[in-house]
Amino acid sequence: MLIDTHAHVNSEKFAGETELIIENAERAGLDAIINFGDTMEASFECLQLARKYDICYAGVGVHPEEAFLLGDEELARLAEWSKDPKVVAIGEIGLDYYWEKDQDKRQLQRTVFIQQLDLARQLGMPVCVHNRDAHGDTMNILRKEGKGIPGVMHCFSGSLEIARELVDMGWYIGVDGPLTFKNAAKLPEIVKAIPLERILVETDCPYMAPVPMRGKRNEPAFVAFVAEKLAELKGVSSETVCRQTSLNAKVLYGIV
Ligand code: NI
Repeated sequence: MLIDTHAHVNSEKFAGETELIIENAERAGLDAIINFGDTMEASFECLQLARKYDICYAGVGVHPEEAFLLGDEELARLAEWSKDPKVVAIGEIGLDYYWEKDQDKRQLQRTVFIQQLDLARQLGMPVCVHNRDAHGDTMNILRKEGKGIPGVMHCFSGSLEIARELVDMGWYIGVDGPLTFKNAAKLPEIVKAIPLERILVETDCPYMAPVPMRGKRNEPAFVAFVAEKLAELKGVSSETVCRQTSLNAKVLYGIV
């Protein structure tokens, strides 16, 4: 039992190999893969994968690096897709100041992030948040505009203080390949300090493959390496990590 809670199997890096990648995931013991859209087109691709493969679920949304002001038409389309039982979240949404240095475009990212938080609230959906080098603004927006919306801070890169605040909000911390890296910095200490009941494991494939696959194309099956590392840090069995993180994902995303 294991869930890759954040993947991009729709990526062109998997073109022509979708069946193989999904078989690999099944062989590795995964019972779900949640693919997240970063554009409207990619969100629709994730929905199509979810309709085609039992193991696949989808999140729909516009990523900060792809941010554009959402009109009524886009918001209506996201809402329509969300009605599909295999669509389990609005995401990935958030802020990315690592790649975006322009102040006007950062303002646009904040606006589009808030638009999608509002949408999630209206639809009663959880959110999957991407935050890179924008911890202050992301948390400010979540405190003000995210009230009552459940979610996960995916690919967590913040401080222990932020992790604790998210846990207090009832949120989850998503960990992936970087947890296994030698230069993982403070992340191992953070996962040790927060309850396993609040952690999700993910790959964010095709990028950021965990050790021992680092540098290769990442895929959902490799989430097992993240789970193993988490088990080692927490001093529990891999089985416990797989069972608990799967349960966490099922609770957050309403997967039966
Ligand atoms: Ni992602």
